[in-house]
Amino acid sequence: MKIQGSIALVTGANRGLGKALVSALLEAGAAKAYAAARDERTVFADGSRVVPLTLDVTKPEQIAAAVRTAGDVTLLINNAGALNSFNVLTSSQADLDADFGVQVHGTLGVIRAFLPVLERAAGGATIVNVLSLTSLASFPPLGGYSASKAAAYSMTQALRPELKQKQIEILAVLPGPIDTDMVKDLPMPKTSPADTAKELLAGIARGDEEIFPDPMAQQMGALWNKSHKEFERAFGTF
Ligand SMILES: NC(=O)c1ccc[n+]([C@@H]2O[C@H](COP(=O)([O-])OP(=O)(O)OC[C@H]3O[C@@H](n4cnc5c(N)ncnc54)[C@H](OP(=O)(O)O)[C@@H]3O)[C@@H](O)[C@H]2O)c1
Repeated sequence: MKIQGSIALVTGANRGLGKALVSALLEAGAAKAYAAARDERTVFADGSRVVPLTLDVTKPEQIAAAVRTAGDVTLLINNAGALNSFNVLTSSQADLDADFGVQVHGTLGVIRAFLPVLERAAGGATIVNVLSLTSLASFPPLGGYSASKAAAYSMTQALRPELKQKQIEILAVLPGPIDTDMVKDLPMPKTSPADTAKELLAGIARGDEEIFPDPMAQQMGALWNKSHKEFERAFGTF
């Protein structure tokens, strides 16, 4: 899809990758960006093309209100994400539910609600789900989060054929570590949100069904293409 002239909605747009995505969209010529956040007062709106929007993706009434406000969206970027669950054996049920609530149920709720809007888009529309390399194989220290991201990837695949018939493409973004609050305590090399956002938009423009938006993701993506088992082992021993 062409970013130029698109009308985007980014969830979790107040910080981290979401904030960088809004800036990158404007730079790439998007006509408008709805910057959705749980607290819209935390959105950095630096011009008339940015429209702050209140949206907690786990709240159906807020999703419905967002659809009423943003009825012209052509590019939906499901970026909101949560990391509450770590070791899959010892994480509490509440933390596991919180991650699945945002990554799986929240993302699906937003997609279902915005379908009529996206179906109206002249020339087709695009949904982008920001997932993770952990969608492809578990990173055991983040085992609960990994499982939620794997479920979100499966859901993305499940939606693809049906959405294709409605002229809507759905793309999965599979980043490695990004330098944001989410992983501030994980000591590993990270890519900046700005660089990740730029590569992510390049992947959307190409229509890549799997977008690997940073050097580690590209390297791991190549390994995944070669051998899923080797990928799993590499992640399991990080
Ligand atoms: N950082 C990484 O290494 C990394 C790697 C791979 C994938 N990702 C994915 O990239 C995406 C962006 O994450 P990030 O790194 O930018 O993390 P972040 O800085 O922690 O930002 C997370 C964003 O999601 C929002 N959010 C959380 N729960 C929400 C909810 N129920 N409804 C709406 N928004 C909600 C947060 O809003 P509040 O400010 O209100 O909390 C915040 O804007 C996520 O999907 C994440 O899983 C990140």
